[in-house]
Amino acid sequence: MSEHRIWEGTIRKLWPTETDTFRDHLLRLDKDARRMRFAHGVSDGFIEDYAARMNDMGSIVFGYFVDGEMHAAAELRKLGDTWGHEAEAAFSVERAFQEKGIGTELMGRVIRSARNRGVHLLYMSCLAENAKMQAVARKHHADLRFEYGEVIGEIVPDDANYFSILAEAVDDRVGYMMAVLNIQARLSAAA
Ligand SMILES: CC(C)(COP(=O)(O)OP(=O)(O)OC[C@H]1O[C@@H](n2cnc3c(N)ncnc32)[C@H](O)[C@@H]1OP(=O)(O)O)[C@@H](O)C(=O)NCCC(=O)NCCS
Repeated sequence: MSEHRIWEGTIRKLWPTETDTFRDHLLRLDKDARRMRFAHGVSDGFIEDYAARMNDMGSIVFGYFVDGEMHAAAELRKLGDTWGHEAEAAFSVERAFQEKGIGTELMGRVIRSARNRGVHLLYMSCLAENAKMQAVARKHHADLRFEYGEVIGEIVPDDANYFSILAEAVDDRVGYMMAVLNIQARLSAAA
């Protein structure tokens, strides 16, 4: 699990048991952010189903946490049953946490994870009006093209090397400890 201190919060990968944490973050997205994230307005029920399928889709989900609560997500999804040549990424940052560099940082983590899994082409799609997402993608050297009201971003990750694999492994170890602490804090609060 990946973990770094970002301003007042931290980033780490989610565990398969944390679908509720993912769901609660997505439910906090306002109407506009939901439309930007899913390319159309979505109901609470849609989000509940979507988050519950996090493990079925075999996605890697990074979360940005403040005081144990998740306020942003980055999803890296396989396009097929196994990690192959291509993958897809999606991002969501709650309104109060936007424009603080969190989306940019999350995209960096996703690109590194894609790279370490042999992905050579990473797709990101967003509405044509989504200037913020396009700005983040440009910062990571995405090639952007406009298609039917959407923008498709293509990023070509570098090949994995010893350092990229080690960096992800180190983040995962620290993230594991942080996840355990989060779970303990939640259990204590619930008791
Ligand atoms: C798109 C999103 C993920 C970006 O996350 P974020 O944490 O706000 O992004 P960052 O703070 O890292 O970067 C935002 C950049 O957009 C720039 N920006 C903001 N408004 C802009 C505009 N109208 N035009 C161009 N650039 C803009 C900011 O200046 C910043 O760039 P900078 O760091 O070079 O100054 C977030 O806004 C979000 O979750 N939106 C709703 C869901 C969504 O759109 N998901 C994407 C579809 S998958």
